[in-house]
Amino acid sequence: MDELLRIRGLTVRFYTYDGVVQALENVDLDINQKETFGLVGETGCGKTLTALSILRLIPPPGRIECGSICFNIDDENEPVDLLTISEDGIRAIRGSKISMVFQEPSAALNPVYTIGDQISEVILLHRRQELGQRALEAVNALLAETPGFISTLARPIWLMERKLYQQVIQAPSSLWLTIISRIFLVKRLLWRLKDEAQKITISVLGEVEIPDPQRLTRQYPHQLSGGMEQRAVIAMALACSPKFLIADEPTTSLDVTIQAQILELLNRLKVEWESSILYITHDLGVAAEICDRVGVMYAGSLCEIAKVDDLYANPLHPYTKALLAAVPKLGEEPHSIGGSVPDPLEPPPGCRFHPRCSSAMEKCREQVPLMRELAPGHFVACYMY
Ligand SMILES: Nc1ncnc2c1ncn2[C@@H]1O[C@H](COP(=O)(O)OP(=O)(O)OP(=O)(O)O)[C@@H](O)[C@H]1O
Ligand code: SF4
Ligand SMILES: [Mg+2]
Repeated sequence: MDELLRIRGLTVRFYTYDGVVQALENVDLDINQKETFGLVGETGCGKTLTALSILRLIPPPGRIECGSICFNIDDENEPVDLLTISEDGIRAIRGSKISMVFQEPSAALNPVYTIGDQISEVILLHRRQELGQRALEAVNALLAETPGFISTLARPIWLMERKLYQQVIQAPSSLWLTIISRIFLVKRLLWRLKDEAQKITISVLGEVEIPDPQRLTRQYPHQLSGGMEQRAVIAMALACSPKFLIADEPTTSLDVTIQAQILELLNRLKVEWESSILYITHDLGVAAEICDRVGVMYAGSLCEIAKVDDLYANPLHPYTKALLAAVPKLGEEPHSIGGSVPDPLEPPPGCRFHPRCSSAMEKCREQVPLMRELAPGHFVACYMY
């Protein structure tokens, strides 16, 4: 299977007044084309930070200390390291090639703009060339098909519009075009870009199964239910047909029926849009439903990676076993994991799970276990194997 993303040695620290928070330590992770990879683990284990590192959005006082994140933008070019490309380079990738859906939909939407304006804005920013092409086709059709008198009157304007749209197609983000498009008359002549963006917005909202997409484009976030809001956020994330979608606990704030609908929607969209998904959740049941492979995180590092069926049928790492035992089952008492997550300011040496592990040995307290492939595609970092 072709690789889409390869993370190696990702280490993130926060330099706080209390000390250095060792948030991510040597994270290695591969995500393949067209797969859904689940990242699971208890709260505070570093799931969101892994996602934010991919987009290079770690907030200060956090810092990516070392590592590489190679992303395969397309089949023609070599993969790029997202951690070393220019600021302009990563900005062009965010939103267009890699999008993120956050846990709280309201955090992603601006309360003072309509849903339509917010999604159109993303399309105008990242799909300008395509919008120019669509607008040019619309003007060419008018020039070719409009009869006599009206055509004679409007022709000079359409010809000017055509010239402008040709410029948009040739150099969609040129400085010259940005400057002249601020002139009132030119702005008016470029109105078709907005119009085309609006049409794409309506079609994307239809894709995420919003019943009356046209009406929704005129609504503000506070007018929507939680489920509709999350659908609108997913539509915004998918507006540029990204190759890679990061969904950070997108269903946690929704009730179970809506949760199921959103999961079904993501599954369908992944197949139709041929995208890959990094699905972050602390719910192993949800991961089993939607993911092809799963990575289990503990205290800033990955401890086990396997195909979803292998992981559930044959968990190897003591932490994975404890997590699975803690899932509530009908008629059974859930077994909670003893102890608590280590303080990231002073994580234990060696295997970070050793203070909670009943199988811990001397070596576990001294040296960090490395990830090893025990069966094809089944990796584990534990001295027991
Ligand atoms: N702004 C910050 N300042 C200091 N430490 C931080 C900051 N943000 C994150 N951390 C540290 O990084 C760790 C991992 O955070 P992260 O948000 O990735 O956890 P998570 O696995 O997504 O948890 P949750 O399931 O609760 O969302 C936290 O436990 C915290 O110690
Ligand atoms: S390395 Fe040692 S402490 Fe860590 S999970 Fe394995 S047995 Fe337990
Ligand atoms: Mg999180």
